[in-house]
Amino acid sequence: MAYTVIIPAAGQGKRMNAGANKQFLNLQAVPLIVRTLQIFENDEACEAMIVVANKDEMIEMKRLFTDYGLRKVTALVPGGQERQESVYAGLLELNQPEGVVLVHDGARPFVRPEEIRRLVAEVGETQGAVLATKVKDTIKKGSREQMVTETLAREELWSVQTPQAFPHKLLKKAHDVAKKKAFAGTDDASLVEHIGGKIRIVPGNEENIKLTTPYDIGIAEVILKKREEDQHE
Ligand code: CTP
Ligand code: MG
Repeated sequence: MAYTVIIPAAGQGKRMNAGANKQFLNLQAVPLIVRTLQIFENDEACEAMIVVANKDEMIEMKRLFTDYGLRKVTALVPGGQERQESVYAGLLELNQPEGVVLVHDGARPFVRPEEIRRLVAEVGETQGAVLATKVKDTIKKGSREQMVTETLAREELWSVQTPQAFPHKLLKKAHDVAKKKAFAGTDDASLVEHIGGKIRIVPGNEENIKLTTPYDIGIAEVILKKREEDQHE
């Protein structure tokens, strides 16, 4: 099924501590954001990419689209203070009310085409779908004083990733409501859940990490190396 993807890349990358937005960090000579965009550039079902960037990084970003021949980028828009505002800015660029829209973090360069396909296939049946992996650690809730208040049932817990997929109209409505009510969610699905939408969990792959701290750069290098070796087998 055809879709458009919104890529929020307008963060600061504070936890990466690289002195610049992590989107521009090179991973084996290719910028992180380019690696992410190339996945969708090469996915036949992807009709358009809407990229959200910091307003003072627009020129640098546009330059990468040209340098790497990313032809599916149909819009480059300035983001907001929070990720939610950045996604909203991207949503305003969409002009296919009947279509499916994906939201995918610029900082996740390892999602596989096969995972995207399985995710998109679920949107027809539900009001949204998210890629996720089962949590491996036991998760406890703690008080401010760092005393355990509850141990959660691990069988029910998922660590949620992006992409997340929705009917465009519904995601727009969810964002409109959230904006109006000043409801802040940490992902897009939570905004759809907030208006009663039913979201399907699609089991993904733990390689689909979000590069967040310097430690993740080492992990990313291992994943890239492993993929290279797999290709040569
Ligand atoms: N993002 C965005 N606009 C914001 C904040 C985040 O478009 N105001 C994007 C980031 O660029 C990233 C994705 O949302 O691709 C996930 O956010 P996160 O990993 O938290 O990235 P940053 O916000 O850049 O990092 P940090 O929180 O460490 O500053
Ligand atoms: Mg952030």
